[in-house]
Amino acid sequence: MRLKLPHWNPSKIIFGGAAAWGLFLVGCVMADRTMVAPPQVAGATFVGSKKCADCHEDFTNQFHDATHAKLTAAGSNGQEIGCESCHGPASLHVKAGGGAGTIVNPGASPEACFQCHLDKRGEFSLAHTHPVLSGKMTCSDCHNPHTGEAVAENTSNMAALNSSCLKCHTSQGGPYVFEHEASREGCTVCHLPHGSMNARMLKARNQNLCLQCHFQEQTAPGVILIGGRDHASFLTRGTCWSGGCHEAVHGSHVSSSLRF
Ligand code: HEC
Ligand code: HEC
Ligand code: HEC
Ligand code: HEC
Ligand code: HEC
Ligand code: HEC
Ligand code: HEC
Repeated sequence: MRLKLPHWNPSKIIFGGAAAWGLFLVGCVMADRTMVAPPQVAGATFVGSKKCADCHEDFTNQFHDATHAKLTAAGSNGQEIGCESCHGPASLHVKAGGGAGTIVNPGASPEACFQCHLDKRGEFSLAHTHPVLSGKMTCSDCHNPHTGEAVAENTSNMAALNSSCLKCHTSQGGPYVFEHEASREGCTVCHLPHGSMNARMLKARNQNLCLQCHFQEQTAPGVILIGGRDHASFLTRGTCWSGGCHEAVHGSHVSSSLRF
């Protein structure tokens, strides 16, 4: 059984939670964040990450280099609360020896993440998003909560990129006869992975997307060079990737100019 998370009520919990919760986070870079109360099991208190090792050694052993391992309670009585920063206070869970419904599992809802990354709720509310708020995907489909860098996609590392986006979107990764070198910079040079106002979660809905890297140059009145060719009449036809233009924007098997 999954734990039911409290319904989000901004007027009630934004600062109410910050007062108590803030104490535990003094040591972190949280100054620019608005905190909301963490989802948690009523009546439970913090026990510290060390306690988790008794029963979840597999998780605690790999946690040391995780982005979130640095979240530590401040003060002389301070505890390393890395695990509980997402899972909430765990005393009742430990007491019950791990019973169902005694601890928050953020795999069931992004609320646990929003308590510190509140801006992400907004990004996932835009018109075109990955279906996280509807529960079809979770933050951890793309982020590593338990080990290493939380952002799996290291844009200079194709292997990491593959594992984060291409595990679901197999066709955009090629291999292509005519690769579009743009993808080597990562899918996020063109897509906003959390959400966007633009269809296909694009960063821009017009040629500005492409002009990030391809320069346009006006050489004479009415002549606009892009990639060495006059594009003046093409640019009136629509986006760079609409029909008849560079439709195969991720790469092509037949057209070196990525037309199809
Ligand atoms: C006394 C043993 C024990 C301790 C200590 C313990 N757990 Fe558990 N935990 C369990 C058992 C047993 C389960 C259920 C079986 C499983 O899924 O592994 C469980 C399940 C969980 C789950 C999944 C719950 C769900 O509903 O899917 C989470 C998350 C979790 N533990 C986190 C923690 C964290 C964080 C700590 C330390 C603060 C901790 N546990 C300490 C025994 C323990
Ligand atoms: C950044 C937030 C975060 C932190 C910190 C964190 N977890 Fe988790 N944990 C998650 C998420 C998200 C899931 C859901 C599983 C998934 O989708 O990978 C999860 C799932 C679990 C589960 C259940 C696994 C299952 O198969 O259902 C256990 C047990 C667990 N965590 C233990 C821990 C322990 C122990 C620590 C500290 C060493 C820890 N977690 C730290 C976010 C976190
Ligand atoms: C208790 C507060 C807290 C919670 C809960 C939390 N985070 Fe974080 N997260 C942080 C802090 C602090 C950082 C450190 C970097 C920073 O200051 O931006 C961070 C960093 C990250 C980063 C990397 C940012 C970067 O620029 O490299 C990602 C991705 C991330 N968190 C995702 C998550 C996800 C997914 C969850 C829920 C499973 C979660 N966080 C839960 C506080 C939290
Ligand atoms: C479809 C994959 C995907 C999902 C789902 C996803 N993220 Fe991300 N996230 C990314 C990528 C990729 C980056 C790196 C962005 C970049 O390099 O431009 C990122 C960056 C971040 C960062 C650091 C940079 C920033 O934008 O602040 C945080 C924090 C973060 N994500 C939190 C979350 C949280 C919280 C969730 C769930 C509510 C989530 N992400 C869901 C792919 C995803
Ligand atoms: C866990 C699987 C998964 C991962 C990982 C994933 N996506 Fe997605 N993606 C989806 C789903 C599901 C949809 C929604 C499809 C729909 O609504 O029909 C989607 C939609 C999209 C769309 C819009 C497609 C359309 O037809 O409008 C784009 C663009 C996209 N993802 C890019 C990315 C990028 C970039 C990454 C890596 C940062 C990524 N995705 C990681 C599952 C995933
Ligand atoms: C140079 C910019 C660019 C890069 C880099 C890029 N995309 Fe796209 N992507 C686009 C454009 C433009 C569209 C819209 C195509 C359309 O509407 O016909 C798109 C559409 C998509 C779609 C919707 C289905 C489709 O193929 O039309 C998915 C899914 C997608 N991209 C995933 C990815 C993934 C995964 C990566 C990284 C491997 C990636 N994209 C890299 C520009 C880019
Ligand atoms: C991250 C940088 C980047 C972005 C953004 C980008 N490209 Fe590219 N593109 C390249 C690189 C690098 C090459 C290979 C070198 C060259 O031909 O300029 C290339 C090559 C091409 C080619 C093949 C040129 C030829 O004839 O050899 C076309 C067509 C193209 N891009 C179209 C687009 C379109 C359309 C967009 C926008 C959807 C776009 N590019 C966005 C970097 C980028």
